[in-house]
Amino acid sequence: MLERLEQIRKTAETGLKNLQNMKDVENFRIKYLGKKGELTQVLRGLSQIPENERPAVGKLANEIRDYLEEQLQIIEKKIKKEEEEKKLKKEFIDVTLPGRRPVVGKKHPITRVLDEIKEIFIGLGFGIAEGPEVELDYYNFEALNLPPEHPARDMQDSFYITDKVLLRTHTSPVQIRVMEKMAPKLPIRIIAPGRVFRRDDDATHSPMFHQVEGLLIDRKVTFADLKGTLQAFVLQMFGESVRMRLRPSYFPFTEPSAEVDISCIICGGNGCRTCSHSGWLEILGSGLVHPKVLEMGGYNPEEVSGYAFGMGIERIAMLKYGIDDLRILFENDFRFLSQI
Ligand code: PHE
Repeated sequence: MLERLEQIRKTAETGLKNLQNMKDVENFRIKYLGKKGELTQVLRGLSQIPENERPAVGKLANEIRDYLEEQLQIIEKKIKKEEEEKKLKKEFIDVTLPGRRPVVGKKHPITRVLDEIKEIFIGLGFGIAEGPEVELDYYNFEALNLPPEHPARDMQDSFYITDKVLLRTHTSPVQIRVMEKMAPKLPIRIIAPGRVFRRDDDATHSPMFHQVEGLLIDRKVTFADLKGTLQAFVLQMFGESVRMRLRPSYFPFTEPSAEVDISCIICGGNGCRTCSHSGWLEILGSGLVHPKVLEMGGYNPEEVSGYAFGMGIERIAMLKYGIDDLRILFENDFRFLSQI
């Protein structure tokens, strides 16, 4: 019996050396120490062996069991530690690696120019007004002194929803909407930024573009007020070295009307491709509000007067950022947008 125990001890010892993982440990435990394990069998069978041999066999069997249990505990601990380390290594985060920079968005060039324009006019005492992009023919044309057969409608061919509803071709309808809301209160002093639509599509015209309308109505407003305000705007927007000039023009909703040019900010007025060698760039249309328009808005042209202007934002953004094809502003190409 003692010999058999020595045999068990020997095989168990080599077995111990080969334990690789927790599964092995479990199998080993079952094989020797489990209910039907080899060592357990010996201890159970003690009653069957001669009495004089019993103490020695029992002692040795207990020794081997204690030894195996002790060894198993050590090995188990070791394996658990190794497995833990392996897991940690897999999930290891190298905190010294440089971080991945998140892509931070920025304002679209149109928004930036709009913000700048708004800020200047807010500084001059103007408020912000808005109107719908889908507009009634009445506000877009009729109330602006452009009756149905008026030839000037041709210049602003639009997208019609129905005969009487269209995508607004300019921000001027906001003039009427604001007057209707305010009349007979004075003064009106607003700018109205927003999207407008025309049937145009080439390198310098997009079917959708942006304008900022300006409207001031009060007593005794003159052309000098208009010119002074625009001069202040041009100074702040383009800098001290840029000159401004007014050119007589025609709009059905202003009388008199003027187109406003600034000296070319690319060539300084000497003449270049951008200004078609004229030295001047047109930036907006303006004039004194036509008496009929004042009347349509609910004001008495005998008592009040006003000025209005409208400028194209894309034009100004193109000049400011040296963009030669307007369409790129609306292609959402990140390579372009992240340059600005
Ligand atoms: N609405 C005109 C346009 O789009 C510009 C303008 C606005 C002219 C206000 C005069 C007064 O061309």
